[in-house]
Amino acid sequence: MPNVTVVDHPLVQHKLSLMRDKARSTKGFRQLLHEIGMLLCYEVTRDLPIEMVEIETPLTTIKAPRIEGKKLVFAPILRAGLGFVDGMLELVPSARVAHIGLYRDPQTLTAVEYYFKAPEDVADRLVIVMDPMLATANSAIAAVERLKERGVSNLRFVCLLAAPEGIDKFHAHHPDVAIWTASVDSHLNDHGYIVPGLGDAGDRMFGTK
Ligand code: PRP
Ligand code: URA
Repeated sequence: MPNVTVVDHPLVQHKLSLMRDKARSTKGFRQLLHEIGMLLCYEVTRDLPIEMVEIETPLTTIKAPRIEGKKLVFAPILRAGLGFVDGMLELVPSARVAHIGLYRDPQTLTAVEYYFKAPEDVADRLVIVMDPMLATANSAIAAVERLKERGVSNLRFVCLLAAPEGIDKFHAHHPDVAIWTASVDSHLNDHGYIVPGLGDAGDRMFGTK
C-alpha cells in the first residue's frame, strides 16, 4: 500500500498481540499502549530532516547533527489518542501538543467535534496526528481537515490498527498524509469495528465499559 508503513518490529507485534487479548486488564492495556507509542514514535520520526551544527566537545570542535526546524506537534484524537502521548513525549520531550476532541456517532459513524486546541503557530510545524484506531477513517479525516483549515501542510498519521477500507478512504481525502501503523487488519464489521481488532480502544483504555 503506498504511503503506509507497517511497523513490523517484534516488540511492537508482541505488545500488540497482548493488547488484542480481551482478558488484558485496563492497566495492562494502557501500559502497552504507552510502550507501543514510544516505539511508533521512533519509527515515525526516523526520516526527520537534520542539519549540521557546530558543537564544542571537551576536546575539539565538530559539526554534529541536530533535528532541523521547529519543534514537532503531537495531535492526539481524544480520547484514545491520549494513550500514545506520554510515550511519545518521553522520546520528544519538547514537542507541543494539539488536542482534537472527536467522537464517532454510533448510528452514522460520522465524527462529531467537541474540542480543538492547537499551538498558535501550528501551521509552521510538522504535526503528527495519532489515534490507536483507523476504522472508517471518519475521525482521522476530520482531524486532518481541521488542522489543514488552520494552515498545517506537513502532517503524518500514526495508529495501532488500520482497516483496509479506512486506509483507502483516508488517502482518497488526504493523499499527502503518510500513515504508520502496527497492523493492517482484515476488515470492518457492520458496526464499523475493526476485525480482528481489539474492541473499543477508548473504553478498554479508560475502563468505561
Ligand atoms: C474511536 C477511536 C477513533 C475512532 C475510529 O473513538 O479512538 O477515534 O473511534 O473510528 P473511525 O475511523 O471509524 O472514525 P471513539 O469515537 O469511540 O471515541 P473515544 O476515543 O472517545 O472512545
Ligand atoms: N473504534 C474503536 O475503538 N475500535 C474499533 O474497532 C473501531 C473504532
